[in-house]
Amino acid sequence: MVKATIIKDNIKDIMADAVVMGIYEGVKSLDPDLADIDRKLGGVISDMISGDDFKGKEGETLLIYTLGKIPAKKILLLGLGKEEDFGANTIRKVIGKAVKQLEKSKTDTAAVLSVGLDKSISPEIVTQCIVEGAMLASYKFNKYKTGDENKENNLKELYIINADNSIADDMHEGIKIGGALAKGTIMARDLINEPSNIVTPEAIANKAMEIANKHGLEVKILEREDIRKLGMECFLGVAQGSDMPPKLITIKYFGGNKDDEVLGLVGKGLTFDSGGISIKPSSGMEEMKGDMGGAAAVLGAMDVIGSLKPKANIIGIIGTCENMPSGKAYKPGDILNSMGGKTIEVLNTDAEGRLVLIDCIAYALKEGATKLVDIATLTGACVIALGSTTTGLISNNDEFVKEVEAAAEKAGEKVWQLPSYPEYKELIKSDWADLKNTGGREAGTITAGLFLGEFVGENPWVHMDIAGTSMITNDKSGLVKGATGVGVRTLYHLAKSMEK
Ligand code: BES
Ligand code: MN
Ligand code: ZN
Repeated sequence: MVKATIIKDNIKDIMADAVVMGIYEGVKSLDPDLADIDRKLGGVISDMISGDDFKGKEGETLLIYTLGKIPAKKILLLGLGKEEDFGANTIRKVIGKAVKQLEKSKTDTAAVLSVGLDKSISPEIVTQCIVEGAMLASYKFNKYKTGDENKENNLKELYIINADNSIADDMHEGIKIGGALAKGTIMARDLINEPSNIVTPEAIANKAMEIANKHGLEVKILEREDIRKLGMECFLGVAQGSDMPPKLITIKYFGGNKDDEVLGLVGKGLTFDSGGISIKPSSGMEEMKGDMGGAAAVLGAMDVIGSLKPKANIIGIIGTCENMPSGKAYKPGDILNSMGGKTIEVLNTDAEGRLVLIDCIAYALKEGATKLVDIATLTGACVIALGSTTTGLISNNDEFVKEVEAAAEKAGEKVWQLPSYPEYKELIKSDWADLKNTGGREAGTITAGLFLGEFVGENPWVHMDIAGTSMITNDKSGLVKGATGVGVRTLYHLAKSMEK
């Protein structure tokens, strides 16, 4: 993992393998420090930017070898895009591109110059985004490769050059925050990328204990019998087809006052979703090892919360189990009671996430949550509606949606609220029980969300459907194929925004 540090250095003497130099699109002249390096290099940089070789488009890179004329071996010109479009998220994206380029050209150490510190964005945020961008782009999951592909990153150290002492404290704060956010996100990615023979419900519980112990948080793991005593027939129904026992996990962090709001973060933790008796097609079924992306996001967020200690009260709740077909499995037509008291007719055993979640939501309320966010890889319909860039939101409270949107904006993650008109609720009324667990193909993401909403009472609640955003099938800006760790940073910023 690349390590970021701040150094104060004379730009031309930087002792790093490479110097990364940010340049806005269309800019043809260099500021004094860069011009000085340029002169030493015989004008090659100004040549490149005045011609067509380097235009400064967002994320564009051009590697120049310095042939001994300055201590650094290489200069990486890095396009920052149009100056008027530049923002915190641009920093994450372009630094991600730079880091990938440096990895490819086998660079050990690099120094970053002129990326963001000239702008109105605070030095803390600039530094935080550089760290997030670098650490998240250099992530790889290669532990199961036994040959050459299993190796550490080439890029070990990233120096962020600070020419101005007055902002040093802010930059150090940025390193701390960015580092904690990236580590929590990477932890979530690892959990999701691991296969279901490794990341079992028990492994998730162990991870929760590890995080809680690391930060001195309260943790509680409930077993099948405890779950039964709580009246969670829906959660148990989903879990009963598998030989692996379910776990109900609670992590508590109380950094606020006793009578402050308590934010409950509820995560779907299906370590494998075969569909159960309503079994899924075999093609693509392997992706369902990632059906615990919501649980991973909650764990990652609790890790960041434990590191950065916001003055707020947060409870993380995770229901984790497998959804498997077997002689013991629950079946279409079964009617189950829920902890919240409503009865559910199971029409499709593959609509299992919502069954686990409603019992976890009821439990979060019992544990004292006054505001709720649930996060889940819940519906294939959300992948169709919003693709892999945007998380779908359903809520009972537009004010709370605004808070989640603001948190997502800070994280650089995209969210979009879907409608929740009462007409949609008609679709999940059952002939035989209070509710049925699917409303059919129409508006699948909305009916799944509103099903959960039946269990939140009057409490402000936002549901995040990350089915599309939790895993990606190709590398794209700043993201690496596989798990994205989406949600970790949004949930942390939401927790932070609860501070009074
Ligand atoms: N875990 C899946 C949803 C999913 C699909 C996540 C694709 C990530 C990628 C969920 O449990 C599921 O199977 N949902 C069904 C619901 C249907 C049976 C009402 C779906 O979306 O097809
Ligand atoms: Mn399913
Ligand atoms: Zn599922």
